[in-house]
Amino acid sequence: MEKRKIIKPALIIAAIALLIIQFFQIDKTNPKVDIAQDFIQHTNPPTEIANLLKTACYDCHSHTTNYPWYTNVQPLAWWIKGHVDNGNKHLNFSTWTSYEPKKKAHKIEEMIEVVEGKEMPMLSYMIGHNEAWIDAAQRQALVTWFKTLE
Ligand code: HEC
Repeated sequence: MEKRKIIKPALIIAAIALLIIQFFQIDKTNPKVDIAQDFIQHTNPPTEIANLLKTACYDCHSHTTNYPWYTNVQPLAWWIKGHVDNGNKHLNFSTWTSYEPKKKAHKIEEMIEVVEGKEMPMLSYMIGHNEAWIDAAQRQALVTWFKTLE
């Protein structure tokens, strides 16, 4: 009896809090893109590679992010937005040509590392995006392409 007296108000408070946070939507406006600075535009990979990059990487590593319907649901959306912001901080394909040659070389090294090591695309992203489950051959194709840029 005592326990129920505590649990019920706690659930009501949690439900209200969940409702209230829905009013704090994330900002889904993409910064303006200068296509001349774009990685794909600049390096001109085969179509297959360009498509892989767009489906598996560009949502978090460019200014062309697509936000699925569930990015209207908090706190999930905050968490996803964190990945987009943080991903772009580390590597932004939309501003690729603005990187110094040394930084470019370092980023290419990292791309090879994270794709070979299956760290990218992030697992949580693949769960929400079936098309981003890249297979071993696609991973290899990406790595081979990155290596031509080294
Ligand atoms: C769901 C968002 C997301 C996707 C999709 C994604 N990344 Fe990332 N990526 C991140 C985040 C966030 C970081 C920052 C470091 C971390 O948290 O691991 C990152 C870091 C990186 C880094 C830098 C690693 C470092 O040590 O600084 C590289 C390179 C990278 N990603 C490449 C890729 C490539 C290539 C793809 C596609 C095959 C990809 N990422 C897909 C979110 C993503």
